[in-house]
Amino acid sequence: MNTTQMTAAAALLALLAAAAAAAGGGVKGRPARQFPVVATSQGQLRGSVMRSRQGKDIYAFRGVRFAEPPLGELRFKAPVPVAAWSGVRNATEDGSACPQPVADYPVPMSEDCLFLNVYTTKLPHGRSNPRRPVVVFFNPGGFYGFTGHSAILGPQYLLDHELILVTNNYRLGALGLLSTGDGVLPGNYAMKDQVAVLRWVRQNIGAFGGDPDSVTIAGYSAGSMSVMFHMVSPMSRGLFHRAIAMSGSPFFKWSVDRDPLPVARKLARHFRCPVDSSEAIRSCLLRVDALEMGRAIDIYREFAWDPIVSFMPTLERAGDSEEQFLTVEPQQSLLSGDFVHVPLITGMTQDEFAWRSLDVLKNATWKDEINNNYYEVYPIAFMYERGTERSRYITDELRNFYLKNKDVENTPRNGLGTLYSDALVGFGVHRTSKVLPCVNSQPVYYYKFSFPGRYSYVYLENTTTPFGVVHHDETLYLFYISVLAPFFTENDPEVLMVKRLTQLWANFIQTGNPTPNRTELFNNVLWEPITTTNSKYLDEGTVMEMKEGLFQERLALWDRLFPLQMPKCYAH
Ligand SMILES: *[C@@H]1O[C@H](CO)[C@@H](O)[C@H](O)[C@H]1NC(C)=O
Ligand SMILES: *[C@@H]1O[C@H](CO)[C@@H](O)[C@H](O)[C@H]1NC(C)=O
Ligand SMILES: *[C@@H]1O[C@H](CO)[C@@H](O)[C@H](O)[C@H]1NC(C)=O
Ligand SMILES: *[C@@H]1O[C@H](CO)[C@@H](O)[C@H](O)[C@H]1NC(C)=O
Repeated sequence: MNTTQMTAAAALLALLAAAAAAAGGGVKGRPARQFPVVATSQGQLRGSVMRSRQGKDIYAFRGVRFAEPPLGELRFKAPVPVAAWSGVRNATEDGSACPQPVADYPVPMSEDCLFLNVYTTKLPHGRSNPRRPVVVFFNPGGFYGFTGHSAILGPQYLLDHELILVTNNYRLGALGLLSTGDGVLPGNYAMKDQVAVLRWVRQNIGAFGGDPDSVTIAGYSAGSMSVMFHMVSPMSRGLFHRAIAMSGSPFFKWSVDRDPLPVARKLARHFRCPVDSSEAIRSCLLRVDALEMGRAIDIYREFAWDPIVSFMPTLERAGDSEEQFLTVEPQQSLLSGDFVHVPLITGMTQDEFAWRSLDVLKNATWKDEINNNYYEVYPIAFMYERGTERSRYITDELRNFYLKNKDVENTPRNGLGTLYSDALVGFGVHRTSKVLPCVNSQPVYYYKFSFPGRYSYVYLENTTTPFGVVHHDETLYLFYISVLAPFFTENDPEVLMVKRLTQLWANFIQTGNPTPNRTELFNNVLWEPITTTNSKYLDEGTVMEMKEGLFQERLALWDRLFPLQMPKCYAH
């Protein structure tokens, strides 16, 4: 999720802005020697050469269009596949990020943002094709922020391994998800952009030396929910073979917006558009400036910075004119086994959103409200039903368990922070870890990321001390995130975690098993799958260790408050 708006992350904003100038290129080390050319089904692309952490040449094809620019009448529509071209197009620079709320974003933004990047260290040569396994990464950002740009998701660490990485942009916020709940604005454009990426990969990755029959979809937070939506969507069938879902789950009730019209009306009113019909909303919002629409996020806040999400995927009506991404509740598809069964890695970080309580404490009004007006504020912040007796019951139980019925303590680590963590990430991911081993015929690997590095997405105010191990932090070891951390070199203590995480991913992307071998690198641990009869997880900390029962006591409360009819295969 996009943390850059929150005051606890103010340092991040400054960092992002400061890095803006430096971010552009991404070609590290020696200058590019040659410009590789690859012929896709639509036309030829000229790439550039970057360098991996361990010094391999990376053939990088950036700013590749996978769909026509979603402009004019194509706004609020499924993406249109990109038309063929003649001659060679340059794919040497990243494309624009999609419009989003952060002022001074280090990457230029434009509504014309449907680009992907392909990275490999081995292109086909003559008749020989390395047919390398592929990983497609869907970025986090709460469906309203972030990008696949190489300054933000640099390939330099993962590309030490024999795999192909594809990063991408999908439309965000209203431009990606606005829906009137009918055929006029069906919604899910963002998800269909992701499908277009996967279709592009299926059609074209062979030309880059990739294996279209070995595709792992991976994602973080909103990207992680996306990964699991692809597991249930009829549009994504046959396009992937393994999945990595980090710190995000479709088992949150709020991961799908079942009644999107009120949000569409709110946005329309904000831009002084009529709201009396879906047609009126659509035709007026078609003329609103895209960058302004990307910025319009505060209008959804009801308490402090909450709720954390506004636009979400929705259920489309079967039979509407556009191809539908989702028509059935994802939870229902998953529970009934009606999804693409693939090996899955899922898990969360030690502290996730625990820092969010600091923001609330900083504002006297918010602090007073959360301490005294909790029946109204809790359901907004932690996203459950409002105004009912059951709602009050849930609030009482949560406040009793996490705050011992007291006011929020004025310390960085407090009960409110833990509650934010469990509500926004912990519970959903926990539920994935319980349900999937039962309904998925393929192995499920569960983790907690707890390695305390020197860099983070969130620092204690006015210090260089990370708050903890928060949401997004393990992406710092999978990608070179030039706006947040230096390029790790052999002497940096972070390098061991870079080696570990990228090797776990590479093993899984290549074989479907993250630890096919006992090695020193993983402290000789074999990552055993979680099953219906154990609750095993890998603790990815300073030491790699198998443990059981992640946050068991805390999450048992949520299981009790939000009971789920478990499928028959569930043993305990
Ligand atoms: C493409 O890149 C090459 C090499 O940098 C450059 O010479 C050429 O002018 C570029 N072409 C276009 C159309 O930008
Ligand atoms: C504190 O909260 C109040 C009420 O939501 C708001 O009007 C005010 O701008 C907030 N102050 C800061 C510094 O964010
Ligand atoms: C951080 O620095 C700002 C500006 O100097 C100051 O206003 C604020 O009180 C400081 N916060 C803490 C927790 O020290
Ligand atoms: C197991 O590890 C050894 C080196 O320790 C390596 O040579 C071998 O390829 C590995 N096997 C698999 C299946 O990864």
